[in-house]
Amino acid sequence: MPSETLTITDNRTGKQYEISIKNGAIKATDLFQIRISEEEGLVSYDPGFMNTASCQSKITYIDGDRGILRYRGYPIEQIAEKSSYLETAYLILYGELPNKTQLEDWTHNITFHSIIHENIKKVIDSFHHEAHPMGVLISTVGALSTFYPEAKKIFDVKTRRAQTYRLISKMPTLAGFAYRHSLGLPYSYPDNDLSYTGNFLNMLFKMTELKYKPNPVLERALDILFILHADHEQNCSANAMRSVGSSQVDPYSAVAAAAAALYGPLHGGANEAVLRMLMEIGSKDKVPEFIKKVKGGEGRLMGFGHRVYKNYDPRAKIIKEIADQVFEVRGRNPLLDIALELERIALSDDYFIKRKLYPNVDFYSGLIYQSMGLPMDMFPVLFAIPRTAGWIAQWEEMLMDADQKLARPKQVYLGAEIRDYVPMEKRS
Ligand code: CMC
Repeated sequence: MPSETLTITDNRTGKQYEISIKNGAIKATDLFQIRISEEEGLVSYDPGFMNTASCQSKITYIDGDRGILRYRGYPIEQIAEKSSYLETAYLILYGELPNKTQLEDWTHNITFHSIIHENIKKVIDSFHHEAHPMGVLISTVGALSTFYPEAKKIFDVKTRRAQTYRLISKMPTLAGFAYRHSLGLPYSYPDNDLSYTGNFLNMLFKMTELKYKPNPVLERALDILFILHADHEQNCSANAMRSVGSSQVDPYSAVAAAAAALYGPLHGGANEAVLRMLMEIGSKDKVPEFIKKVKGGEGRLMGFGHRVYKNYDPRAKIIKEIADQVFEVRGRNPLLDIALELERIALSDDYFIKRKLYPNVDFYSGLIYQSMGLPMDMFPVLFAIPRTAGWIAQWEEMLMDADQKLARPKQVYLGAEIRDYVPMEKRS
């Protein structure tokens, strides 16, 4: 049987080292024994974690070359077709699909934690009306830690459960309130008779009617979008959640950090960036000109490309189908023609083919959100709500993993050698 080891020869010294391979990985700390002096062991240099596994995980599986995504082993296509967001969140968090009673209890617990302390409302009130709702969400979810100081007991299972219910339940409320604040509308309180997404639509759109009735097509479309965004293994925000959580801070503070990571245009902010790009292009006939600019290094085709997928993002395929259902109810989004033309040209262009750049989850999701009547500012917020389940699952897995430690990467120092302080009068 071949040995599960790697033999390394250090040509600087001629020494050989045998390093074990486990689950297709070597331990970076095993490289440390390879050294030329007492102080300096070999380190691996990997900005952006291009080929570094930061953890072992049992939550989400992605095969980027084949365009495969599975939550706890279940293909995303089956989950999107048959499950609901809350059932999916349970699966992601606890590893198995719930039985009937478990799902009822879980749904009850999520539904009955949706109200936020009135003082949080005052925090939201204090923001400028033009405040980006993602900034409001990041601030208010972080502020929740001050309302639940017991959340610091992160190694107590019961306490973690309580914060899990609160976080998954209150994120839509914070998001809904942030949206209403931006419009100067009165806050719409949670309605426990409605589903998770039905209630979210109620908190966004209820006007003077006594009872808000969500459109079932939009409610289900949003639920599927939430399923597709629930987790995506070690992405930038999950990494932020684990990294910040490794300091053993409470989960509200860690979720605020994860949401901040999601806000950026290369991650969850991409759906907003896609819409801005489509609007900037303006019409179908301007697409070739835009593609030419991208190929010339002037900006990127937003909603295209992915660190892991080198094939069509399986979530984008499902989203394209939902888009048709939503457009049937709300009318066709005129930007769709530009998006389809961009996709058509990009998928047949050598630049994109060579680099394996395909549409990702964000390419079409913004068009759907816009058709639902949501402003672009809300798009990353709509990503953060469902991703909260994934963040908590990643955080809990990290806490329970004996291998995990305070996240603290090394650096390769290339700065100045030691030198003496120069007084001001002697500086040039
Ligand atoms: N448009 C044009 N060129 C691109 C794009 C793009 N969207 N993405 C990558 N490239 C090119 C890039 O210029 C580089 O070319 P070259 O080899 O000539 O220098 C090559 O492809 C590799 O790019 P990279 O930046 O080294 O790859 P990465 O793995 O670091 O980037 C990415 C991944 C998602 C940051 C990038 O594809 C991108 O910026 N995409 C647009 C933003 C976007 O849609 N983000 C949402 C990601 S999906 C949602 C989520 O999970 O967060």
